[in-house]
Amino acid sequence: MKISVIGLGYLGATHAVAMAKLGHQVIGIDSDQAKLASLRAGVLPFYEPGLQQALAEVLSEGKLSFQNEHSSESASADLHFLCVGTPQSPDGSANTSYLDSAIDQLAPHLAERSVVVGKSTVPVGTALRLKQRLSSLVSFEPRIVWNPEFLREGTALEDSLKPDRIVVGAFKKEDSFPLLIAYEKLVAEGSPVVEVDVATAELVKVAANAFLATKVSFINAMAEIAEASGADVVALAKAIGYDDRIGNKFLRSGIGFGGGCLPKDIRGFIARAEELGVGSSLSFLKEVDAINLRRRKRVVELAQQQLGNLAKKKITVLGISFKPNSDDLRDSPALEIARELARLGAEVVVSDPKSLGNLTDSNLIKEADPIQAVSQSELIILGTEWESYKQLDPKDVAAVVKNPLVIDGRNVLDVASWQAAGFKVIALGRNLD
Ligand code: UDX
Repeated sequence: MKISVIGLGYLGATHAVAMAKLGHQVIGIDSDQAKLASLRAGVLPFYEPGLQQALAEVLSEGKLSFQNEHSSESASADLHFLCVGTPQSPDGSANTSYLDSAIDQLAPHLAERSVVVGKSTVPVGTALRLKQRLSSLVSFEPRIVWNPEFLREGTALEDSLKPDRIVVGAFKKEDSFPLLIAYEKLVAEGSPVVEVDVATAELVKVAANAFLATKVSFINAMAEIAEASGADVVALAKAIGYDDRIGNKFLRSGIGFGGGCLPKDIRGFIARAEELGVGSSLSFLKEVDAINLRRRKRVVELAQQQLGNLAKKKITVLGISFKPNSDDLRDSPALEIARELARLGAEVVVSDPKSLGNLTDSNLIKEADPIQAVSQSELIILGTEWESYKQLDPKDVAAVVKNPLVIDGRNVLDVASWQAAGFKVIALGRNLD
């Protein structure tokens, strides 16, 4: 099938490559010329395991091309995927203006038979609003479906090619047929299809992210209780996770969730519920957000408790991306902690395998090599659980630090071996002394 993908950020670039991998003829459209030049040259503008190679493959097969605006070529697409961002507005609500622009630019080129497929995360009601907007710009009844994307950074391509579900929301059932044909291979390989109305499709995405955020904040709230009562949150998570109804996933305690989705989506969801007059239904999500942000503050407090005045103290933060296997710094808990420590006068060295190139802060010292980064350090904070940090030999680290003190912000270090190497280990929600 012939496909256009509008918006080539994280979601759009991954989706364009995935659709080309499925054998479709894909045109990626974005107004950012630098991004287009990079993608045309086969260079992904962000780090995502496996995606760079897949991009090179589909480019060499001629399955994927890029344009900065619609043309007669893209106008003949069977499906136009809307993948533009919906960033957080200052009041917490999602800003859907990029979708409006995408619709306005697509309208003069839209063929009556083509289907517009929304993939961006949106407040419930957006698809209806966009359909009305598009209807006023074309002379026929436009076909719009909503197909939320659930990919995770770090496993984005795999998630796109083996989705654990395909959710399709349509105003008219037949509008979703071309999309289901495009996804035929995924369905044949076992991905279940959930066909719903448009409002439900929009809601599924934010509901899923709200649930995941709640799970993380739940275990982090237990960490706060554990700290106050002498219990151990890691053991607690393991024990409750054996119950199938609870499950052991997304129960990793630490400095909390960040990234381009979970924090902004729960705030956008709260704002939308308030607009709909049902704000109290989601008031618990404000607490989910508050618990999450408290964990970041807790690490700064622990640093102050251990080191006193932080002025000129050398502190190393290992890992600043919001999660491992990603170079994404958006709303990263580890980076926010590093910035706060620097604001309090500490000399903060940050290390990360992939994201240092994206960091523009001039008051954070960048050092890619972890052993160099911890040299003469008075406190190490494990901010992101990259495998390479989990594999560090604490004896090598002990040999170069000034003060053997580590805060495990992700509860992943082998405490016994770090203690054996002479470290005082502090872990969130655990009482290790
Ligand atoms: C998330 C959703 O999982 C995905 O379905 C959606 O499409 C986009 O948002 P992503 O932001 O890539 O994906 O990361 P995810 O793996 O969900 O982790 C989000 C944050 O939660 C990270 O900062 C991670 O470190 C944190 N987290 C996750 C925890 O603190 N504990 C956990 O147990 C799991």
